[in-house]
Amino acid sequence: MSRLDNKVAIITGASSGIGRAAALLFARQGARLVLSARGRERLDAVAADVRAAGGAAIAVPGDVSDEAHHRALVDAAQAEFGGLDIAFNNAGTTGPIGPLPALAAADWQAVLDVNLTSAFLAAKYQLPALEARGGGAVVFTSTFVGYTAGFPGLAAYAASKSGLIGLVQVLASEYGQRGVRVNALLPGATDTPMGRAVANTPEAREFIAGLNAFKRIAAPEEIAQAALFLCSDASSFTTGTAMLADGGVSINRV
Ligand SMILES: NC(=O)c1ccc[n+]([C@@H]2O[C@H](COP(=O)([O-])OP(=O)(O)OC[C@H]3O[C@@H](n4cnc5c(N)ncnc54)[C@H](OP(=O)(O)O)[C@@H]3O)[C@@H](O)[C@H]2O)c1
Repeated sequence: MSRLDNKVAIITGASSGIGRAAALLFARQGARLVLSARGRERLDAVAADVRAAGGAAIAVPGDVSDEAHHRALVDAAQAEFGGLDIAFNNAGTTGPIGPLPALAAADWQAVLDVNLTSAFLAAKYQLPALEARGGGAVVFTSTFVGYTAGFPGLAAYAASKSGLIGLVQVLASEYGQRGVRVNALLPGATDTPMGRAVANTPEAREFIAGLNAFKRIAAPEEIAQAALFLCSDASSFTTGTAMLADGGVSINRV
């Protein structure tokens, strides 16, 4: 028996990095997938990889800051696979990196739209679908940045991602008795296109790796395993958490 047998999952940000690794892992664990990202080509390629490995996946391209996209994802889960059990809301953006006074208000708003308003919109459509199914799991990808560690140049990113943790706490308490668990996953530095854009020189990479207890950057597959835990019944008594998978950045002092 695999850990996600008979489950239907939405994964956003599924065309790259952590989301792609989660798509491949969740499919191996038996889940049928509705995959989201803006770029159709890379998303179709991930869906094809899942199917080539014997899994089931459809690609629904769109922008997570667009309300209609969340409705379309839930509709696709119900139409293609009969319902929704899991939502791994993982798409995100750092936005421009730099000192706050240099940040344009429009860029601040765009980061909040993609990282935080998207979560509200996702929940708005996912929660009724999960409830109709008798329960399920929602996970939002947050970050250690702005939660357990400051990080210069990432004000909008930190503010939007820590906003997810407040949202998770409210939704977890609202939906606990309705069988829906809601959690935030807080990765540390991970080797993805986004991670490489932040750690964009050998010196930056060494500095960022040095922040954690292992002195290395995570592979996306390691974060996908943490997402699998939160999305599966293995975490049946876990809700409302901000679960760190950060290599110990938050406790490391040497
Ligand atoms: N990498 C790290 O070090 C790290 C650490 C902590 C937390 N995180 C978080 O982990 C999550 C995944 O990041 P990653 O490192 O795997 O990044 P990534 O490899 O750059 O992947 C980002 C994914 O999100 C999609 N995406 C971006 N903006 C979107 C939008 N507006 N609408 C829909 N899809 C969008 C991208 O596809 P398209 O561009 O085609 O839309 C892509 O599939 C993010 O929420 C990030 O904040 C990452």
